[in-house]
Amino acid sequence: MKIAVLPGDGIGTEIVAEAVKVLDALNLPFKMESALVGGAAYDAHGHPLPPATLKLAKDSDAILFGAVGDWKYDKLDRPLRPEQAILGLRKELGLFANFRPAICYEQLVGASSLKPELIAGLDILIIRELTGDIYFGQPRGRRIATDGHFPGAEEAFDTMRYARPEIERIAHVAFQAARKRNKKVTSVDKANVLETFQFWKDVVTEVHTEYPDVELQHMYVDNAAMQLVKAPKAFDVVVTGNMFGDILSDEASMLTGSIGMLPSASLNSKGQGLYEPSHGSAPDIAGKGIANPLATILSAAMMLRFSLNQEASAQRIEAAVQKVLAQGLRTVDIYSEGTTKVSTREMGDAVVAALKA
Ligand code: NAI
Ligand code: MG
Repeated sequence: MKIAVLPGDGIGTEIVAEAVKVLDALNLPFKMESALVGGAAYDAHGHPLPPATLKLAKDSDAILFGAVGDWKYDKLDRPLRPEQAILGLRKELGLFANFRPAICYEQLVGASSLKPELIAGLDILIIRELTGDIYFGQPRGRRIATDGHFPGAEEAFDTMRYARPEIERIAHVAFQAARKRNKKVTSVDKANVLETFQFWKDVVTEVHTEYPDVELQHMYVDNAAMQLVKAPKAFDVVVTGNMFGDILSDEASMLTGSIGMLPSASLNSKGQGLYEPSHGSAPDIAGKGIANPLATILSAAMMLRFSLNQEASAQRIEAAVQKVLAQGLRTVDIYSEGTTKVSTREMGDAVVAALKA
């Protein structure tokens, strides 16, 4: 078994180093191989996703990814920007199912901006479709309008589209995930306005007939945004398209206290996956040694669970994370009075110590 380790830019290198430390401490029979990606790869090779990095990713059982991006690359042509590396990996590997579990650990209930009773015990799973929707739909571009409200004016357009097999496969993933949890799926759409999402709703409803033991609820995205902050614990599995999922999963991340706590998995139909924290490269704090490595460490746990068949080790990591939080150790993003402020490295060391205890 081989893990491709792609730290990337900014805090990516700092947080991935801690996750690798935790994986090393488990003494599992895996090989880990690192490669440059994003801005780091652009600096060295002139491309954010060099062929050797892509090959390593394709040849591995799983990918542990940090983050890519920095303001200094903003002037580059779009295909050369660091962010193209993560988009390219998703596309090349067919990573269509993005899992973002939003769990509020008991020790961090006070770190959320929501009332404690709303989020204590929160454990929901957002599943975002990752390869379709308006982010990839063609045609797209700019032109001079020949019709519409302003003929003759310059305009821009994108295309929202979903094919039946794309909706079917993500719906199966959601119902199967719900079977292992609390057996409820909320499918989020905008069927009242968009034909793409009426189709989404129809196909999800059809797939649901194969899962009579799972409850299916449909919800419009605007209402879902509201319910997520009003009564987040009413959800179990939420499944939605690429754009709605992008927005709702960031909203859900704030329920957990900090974006530095939220792991993610992006899976393809072969069980191969890319595991990364939900946050970006945080150039504002990069190099300071203060980034929270827990989202990346928890992503490594998801990697052991979903791609490497090591459920027991995944649980050991998750228990170790809870233990360091119970000890009161906090990076700045989750710090509150009465707890102990630690650096990125100290947090990683504490997780390793908790694993070994
Ligand atoms: P960001 O997630 O990098 O940062 C947002 C805020 O959260 C910042 O104040 C940052 O300091 C803080 N933060 C993020 N992770 C943290 C951690 N582990 N510990 C403590 N604080 C943390 O999002 P932003 O600022 O919008 O983007 C920065 C760069 O990252 C951009 O170039 C963007 O394109 C890229 N990006 C990359 C992603 C990826 O690699 N998958 C995802 C999102 C953004
Ligand atoms: Mg986002």
